[in-house]
Amino acid sequence: MASVTGLEGVIAAYTEIGLVDGELGHLVYRGYPAQELAVSKSFEETAFLLWHGRFPQEDELTALKKRMSHYRNLPDYICRILELLPASIPVMSALQTAVAALAEAEGSAWPPSLAQAERLTAMLPTMIAYRARRIAGLPALQPDANLDHAANYLYMLNGRKPERSHAKALEAYLILGMEHGMNASTFASRVIVSTQSDMCAAVSGAIGAMKGPLHGGAPYEVIAMLESIGSKSNAEPWMRNVLDNGGRLMGFGHRIYKTKDPRAQALRAVTMELTGDDPSFDLAIYVEDTAIRLLEEYKPGRRLFTNVEFYAAAIMRAINLSPDLFTPTFTAGRTVGWTAHLLEQAAINRIFRPESIYIGTMPSMLDNDLN
Ligand code: CMC
Repeated sequence: MASVTGLEGVIAAYTEIGLVDGELGHLVYRGYPAQELAVSKSFEETAFLLWHGRFPQEDELTALKKRMSHYRNLPDYICRILELLPASIPVMSALQTAVAALAEAEGSAWPPSLAQAERLTAMLPTMIAYRARRIAGLPALQPDANLDHAANYLYMLNGRKPERSHAKALEAYLILGMEHGMNASTFASRVIVSTQSDMCAAVSGAIGAMKGPLHGGAPYEVIAMLESIGSKSNAEPWMRNVLDNGGRLMGFGHRIYKTKDPRAQALRAVTMELTGDDPSFDLAIYVEDTAIRLLEEYKPGRRLFTNVEFYAAAIMRAINLSPDLFTPTFTAGRTVGWTAHLLEQAAINRIFRPESIYIGTMPSMLDNDLN
């Protein structure tokens, strides 16, 4: 049933990119279950699939990796923008600014192109790492052309080649976060590009939508929640206190999923492999089980389950990413989905122009006309 508030149930587009089945708990990218892609394919292979609708041949994959490795390098003026913004500006806002500024660069104009999609996807991790290291007072690092996308991101953040298990866990997370139907940021980006504005403007707008705690900002809040809970004995009283005061448990609930979010289940398995019997993982599992029970008690019939953000936070903590990089890292993966949608939108484009129903007061001079 469609609803005006939150556009629930409203169909905004036909798409061949991704299917989110909230009743059965399926997430499909171009015909393939996302959970399978996360464990069997690389970031670059999955990005190619979302952009082209098929997997790359070996030579196509080699060429894509080569181009993306070239595109990782930031233009000087983007580095200067990332340096100039005050340290108090969140990384997401710095990213939004830097991506918007790319719009003036050669080759970024309408219509959106595959080269623009590859370039933005390749550049996002460099922007994040550049900004993070400079804020921390560390020298920025040049990308390492010998490393793949996920491993290079960790290298640019930490200055050392990552453990293979960390790079694989991050890659699985980035793949699972790439695409998710007509979510708020994807919709925002399609609306922007439908005006024939450029791909950078659309991705910059999507980053703005992603920043909010009800969308991509949730993993940061999940960590804050787990840290505040601190121990199993405190879990139930802590969560009851939130729910008694009308608050929300972060990492739970979803507009579309009315069963377990398949991404959360896949990430839980990846986190378990990575952290083994680490006490923080044990606490996360306990909090998850308790939260689901309490949500059923406080919100009967709403079918609130764990969403992707809950275990995303656990993975990112396990690979030692600082919490202010959780949402930017989600963004680095989602850029693939946004750009795939922008290419699709441009191919069939008609400007988005919904209507509203005016429920305010009318000027008295019109009263006579209406009567
Ligand atoms: N904790 C407590 N109550 C909740 C929660 C929650 N996490 N989520 C929904 N509810 C309740 C809500 O209070 C409402 O109750 P009532 O009917 O009594 O007013 C009912 O469930 C329906 O909520 P809603 O706000 O109408 O649901 P929505 O579809 O508009 O919101 C959501 C979806 C994800 C914004 C929401 O579940 C939420 O705020 N979750 C916490 C934040 C979070 O984890 N966000 C990450 C989402 S996954 C990332 C992504 O795919 O973008």
